[in-house]
Formats: sequence, structure tokens, C-alpha cells
Amino acid sequence: MGKMIKFFDTTLRDGEQSPGCSMNNREKLQLAKQLEKLQVDVIEAGFAASSQGDFESVRSIANEIKSSGVAVLARAVKNDIDRGWEAVKNAAFPRIHTFIATSDIHMKYKLKMDPEDVIKRASEMVSYASSLAPEVEFSAEDATRSDPEFLARIFDAVIQSGAKIINIPDTVGYTTPDEFYDFINEVKSKSSHLDKAIISVHCHNDLGLGVANTLAALKAGATQFECTINGIGERAGNAALEELVMILDTRRDRFDCDFNINTKEIMKTSNLLTMITGVKVQPNKAIVGANAFAHESGIHQHGMLSHQETYEIMKPETIGLSKNKMVLGKHSGRHAFKERLESLGYVLTQEELDEAFEQFKNLADKKKQVFDRDIQAIVTKRAIEETDGIKLVRYVINSGNTITSTATVTLKKGNSVKEKVATGDGPVDASFNAIKKLLNLDVKLEEYSLQAVTEGTDALGETVVKVSCNGQRFVGRGLSTDIVESSINAYLEAVGKALEEQKDDDNE
Ligand code: KIV
Ligand code: ZN
Repeated sequence: MGKMIKFFDTTLRDGEQSPGCSMNNREKLQLAKQLEKLQVDVIEAGFAASSQGDFESVRSIANEIKSSGVAVLARAVKNDIDRGWEAVKNAAFPRIHTFIATSDIHMKYKLKMDPEDVIKRASEMVSYASSLAPEVEFSAEDATRSDPEFLARIFDAVIQSGAKIINIPDTVGYTTPDEFYDFINEVKSKSSHLDKAIISVHCHNDLGLGVANTLAALKAGATQFECTINGIGERAGNAALEELVMILDTRRDRFDCDFNINTKEIMKTSNLLTMITGVKVQPNKAIVGANAFAHESGIHQHGMLSHQETYEIMKPETIGLSKNKMVLGKHSGRHAFKERLESLGYVLTQEELDEAFEQFKNLADKKKQVFDRDIQAIVTKRAIEETDGIKLVRYVINSGNTITSTATVTLKKGNSVKEKVATGDGPVDASFNAIKKLLNLDVKLEEYSLQAVTEGTDALGETVVKVSCNGQRFVGRGLSTDIVESSINAYLEAVGKALEEQKDDDNE
């Protein structure tokens, strides 16, 4: 058996800090449940002391997740640790992750603290956190720009105060693989206690080296990888979990490592995150990009047909993509649909299956061929849909290149059905204006994107809408073969969330 690598996923914390990737608490919990299915070792659920919303979110994740550990981030400050512990204490495997900056530039300009006081504060706070939590992780923020001698001293101090995991972050994504390897070895050689702790690394991707640096750290003795789904995170993001896992899986000959991740859940997790945040993965992204397993050129296709391994180093099934290339259509029955869902890794309850099948049939009536990507879009969208939101009853558009577009939109909320007419610059703008009149809400459209899920003019159109209201951003997605309907549904989901938030604020 090879070295066991622990995967610490920080999609819900560092990932959520990236522009456009904020999630509401229900979405965070849903993603946490999917991360548990992916079998990550630790889910960093959030930074509880940063807001009441974050606190609630960490708490609900800690209460629900049973087989992965749940970590909470806390500055090396008593109040952060108290709030963090309060939020995470009911987890099956709780962890407090506390940090303080250790580079000269951070200590001088950000913390305005003397290095000796930083060591004192870190060890006092780790000691305090260890009196509460069974597992305490300590991070030296901006470690790669810190003095290795100083790092060794602070690590020794916090390990003696109870830290079991020592994280060495490349906070600004500055280091290079060979340098990071040497750096970790140097810190190890100067420390007397680092061999008693688990060494973790957390690499940012500012120079595109997050994954490479993590692997260099592995060679230097790191056994915990901090990473995110789709590589999201501050600025250029963090090392991507799916890339690290598939490197270890595909190149066992080079790394000889074991891990707990269920690779078959990778694609589903990536899709769910994309659906929740509305942030698309670039098509050529390693592992989870739409083109990662597509073979376009004739030479490659010919090679693949002769022998799959001519151009394919990983099997698509390993990450949960379907092996079965047969497309479904309106004559496909419930059995074939269920089988396809299962081959894509979706296990639905009878009720969920009935609903998904009905949506599939509706779609198959409108488009000849239903591809796996359509099915994934339907199921993922269904899973994150608000159940008590505002529903579109109908819309009628009058539009053309020589007239002003007019939309009549009818909405239902509870038992109340209301209709309004509005004009606009094109059918989508007119419909959004009608909805704004109906809901009487001051929202600003920040982002609108429409993309076909598959090829063809009958393809499902997936719309992502981001709106802002009272300084907060809300994301909505719509899915339909009709692009106006898809846009309306996306807008309704986003403004529905803004309304919910307003209701919560009014109740507080
Ligand atoms: O990048 C970083 O240094 C961090 C720490 C809080 C671990 O995110
Ligand atoms: Zn980070």
C-alpha cells in the first residue's frame, strides 16, 4: 500500500471567496453533501466568525455531514475560535483551522505585530483551540515568502501547543515546484517537531503552478492536499482537486499513493458547482472541461477506433462520464432512462425519478436526440431548484425587428396569480421588465449568459442570470429549449432568492 493522501476540500471557503462564486446556505449544504459522496476527507465549510450567514452555514453542514471531517476557518483570535467551535462542534469529525501570517511583509504591514508576538499568539490560540476541538490545524499564511527558520520555530511552538496538522500555504501563488520542494525540506530540517504532525499544503494558482507545487510538496513529505473543485478560489484559484486526484490515479507508477476519493463522483461534483455558481469551466480544462475527452481530429478518431489507449490516458468512466454513447430519444422508455442515469452515477428516489422522467419526456418531444449532457443538466438543475419559489404560468411575446418588443408575463406565488405587460429592448428585456413590475423589487441585472447545452438549433438553452439587490448578488439558472423561457426562469430564480433574503432580513 502506498502513502495515504488526505484531500481537504476548501471549495466552500477559499473557493467561495472567488469573484462570482458566492453561494447561499442551502446551496452550500447541497455541495457539502456531494463532497461527502465524493469522499473528501475534510470539508472546509467556511469562516464562521465572518458573518451570521457563514456561521449558520457551517453549523448546518457540521450537523449533516457524517463521514467527512468538517473544518472551520478561524484567525488566531479567541473570538474567531469560539465562534468557529460553536458552529462546528456537532460535526462527526470537527476541526478548527486557525491561521496567522508569518512573512515579514504580512507581519509588518498587515498584522503590525512583532515576530515574537506572532509566535506567542499562534501558540496561545492553538492551545486554546485544542482545549475545545479534537483536531486543530495551523496555517502559516504566506508561508512561502516567510523565513524558513522562523517557520520552523512557529511550527514547533504550535505543535507543542496541540496542532496536529501543519499547513504550508503558497498564499500568493509565488513559488515554483523545485523551490517549494527545497523550502519544505529546509523547514523540516530546521524543526524539531514537524515529524510529529501531518504536513499539509495549500497552493494558489497565480502562476498556474498550484497543482505542480502540490505534487512537489508531496515528494517533500506533505500528505494533506488542500484544493477546490474546478480549481476555484481567491484570484486565479487554488489547486484543482480533480486534477490532483486523477494525476495520482493515472500516474500511480510515479507517485504510489492511495486516497479515499471516489473518482466516479468527480464529474457530478464539478457540474453541481457550475450549476450553483453559474461559473462555467473552460472547455479545455483538464479532467472536467467539455473537451477533455473529445477527439476532434480525424487522425485521433481513427487511432481511438483502432485502440482506445492511442490517445486516451484516462477512461471517461473513471470520473463518472458515461461509457454508453447511445443517445436517448422520445421512444426511450423509463428503463433506458433509469439505466442511463445510473451509468452517470445518479441514484434517484422513485419520486425524483418520476419527475426527472417527465422532464426528459417533455424534452424528448421538443428535441430529437437527448444527450448525456442534457440529462445531467436536467437532473442537476432539478436538485438545486427552489421548491417554494415564484412560478412562471405563461408568457406571450410580441417582437420583431421593426417593432418594440412587448411581453405579457403571468406569475404564480402560492395561490396568487398576477399578470403584467412591459416593453423592452428585445423579448428578454421586455420579459424581465414585466417581472420587475410584478414583483416590485429594485434589482439590477449584473450578468446574463445563454449557452446551448449540446449542439443543434433544438438544443437546451442554459441561461445564467446574476442580479444584485441591496449590495448582495443572487444567481439563477434556467433550462429550456426555448431561450426566452430559459431566460425568464433564470431571472425568476435569481429575483426569488433576493426576495427570500429580504424576507429573512425583515424577520431578523
Ligand atoms: O491562501 C491562504 O493562505 C489561505 C489560508 C487561510 C490557509 O487560504
Ligand atoms: Zn487560500
